[in-house]
Amino acid sequence: MTEEESAGPSRPAVDKNAEASVIDLGRGPLSSETLTALIALRETDREAYDAHVLTLKSRNRWRDVLPLLALDAPDSPDVMEIFVTALQKLGIPGNLDELSLLRLYNSGHIRLPASTQASLGDKVDLQEQSVQLAVLKTLFAFEMSRGTFFHLPTKNTATFFLRGKTDVLRAVRSGKPMIDAESPRYREARTHMDIVLPDSIFIDGPPKRVCEIGAAWGGSTLSITDRFAPEEFYNFEIDPDLARQMEIELGLKSLPCDGETLTGVADGSMDLVFSSGVFYFVPPMKLVSYFNEMIRVCRPGGLVYFNLLTAELLSPRRLGVMIKDAGLRRVFAPIPRSWVDEMFADFERLPIPEGTAFNPEGEFIFRKPKA
Ligand SMILES: C[S@@+](CC[C@H](N)C(=O)[O-])C[C@H]1O[C@@H](n2cnc3c(N)ncnc32)[C@H](O)[C@@H]1O
Repeated sequence: MTEEESAGPSRPAVDKNAEASVIDLGRGPLSSETLTALIALRETDREAYDAHVLTLKSRNRWRDVLPLLALDAPDSPDVMEIFVTALQKLGIPGNLDELSLLRLYNSGHIRLPASTQASLGDKVDLQEQSVQLAVLKTLFAFEMSRGTFFHLPTKNTATFFLRGKTDVLRAVRSGKPMIDAESPRYREARTHMDIVLPDSIFIDGPPKRVCEIGAAWGGSTLSITDRFAPEEFYNFEIDPDLARQMEIELGLKSLPCDGETLTGVADGSMDLVFSSGVFYFVPPMKLVSYFNEMIRVCRPGGLVYFNLLTAELLSPRRLGVMIKDAGLRRVFAPIPRSWVDEMFADFERLPIPEGTAFNPEGEFIFRKPKA
């Protein structure tokens, strides 16, 4: 503790700090020194920092404020919204899909037809380094969290994970339920789940309390709800439209989904916590968080089930195939198998029954020890 601090709050206002909290923003553009000072202020005095950001915004200094907004946008939908507004004010398209396309183009991941390149190039000047960094960093975080990917056939990006908009809208327009248990995607998921989690695996009786991560349109969900009609079924689905529709059509309880925790589910309370066809798309940091949470909410004797493409199951050759596949391109960052083993070391790993739809090496069923 410094001398000043130990003197306690009765001392006169801390003038030195107050001065340090006022940064001359000038008339713009911000010099790199000022930008550095502002970024430092964000760490030391959040209130003062926010006030500076507000000043820049109120003076319509969008180019100056953009790199600052980018620091918080990945973690805050509110700031993300202002970030997109700032982009629009600067004439950069606020359409994240278009920006995503640009990111991929700029990072050399894709080639674009000259006409598309020209039309996008006209809309945005990514030459300026601070803007470029801000845009790339934010978009990357956005893509990581939402699963934006490049769709080769249409030469565009698509936010697959927000497909609830289309699926749900189609259902609403047609007046029919979204769930069509007879369609192939349901039959495939359902058959897989029936085999991988047969009735006999629930040795304490049918699961009454269930938690699913990413129920989406309910392909796997139906296998559990139809067979066991659990008393409680919590769904953590990041796509809000799908989450809502599953409440309406299947009566699941959709809890607010932050993409990495099972907040709202009590410790040791679930007979079954599972996720199918989801972890392929979840980045490692969030995945490890989900594992921790599955371990937390599973009751002693309960089951954890998920599937995953671990690094061992990939090769440059396989990824080469995936690069051309719009869907599989969403595999962002596989984790090594040893992480799963390490995290579930205290659990019993159950064998994967034969005849499942997916590669058994990527299937994981664990039972939490009772004692
Ligand atoms: C391929 S679908 C899952 C299919 C479904 N579970 C089944 O077996 O038929 C992937 C779903 O995971 C959701 N998702 C992606 N990342 C997520 C995350 N971090 N947390 C929760 N849901 C997520 C997506 O919105 C999407 O609905």
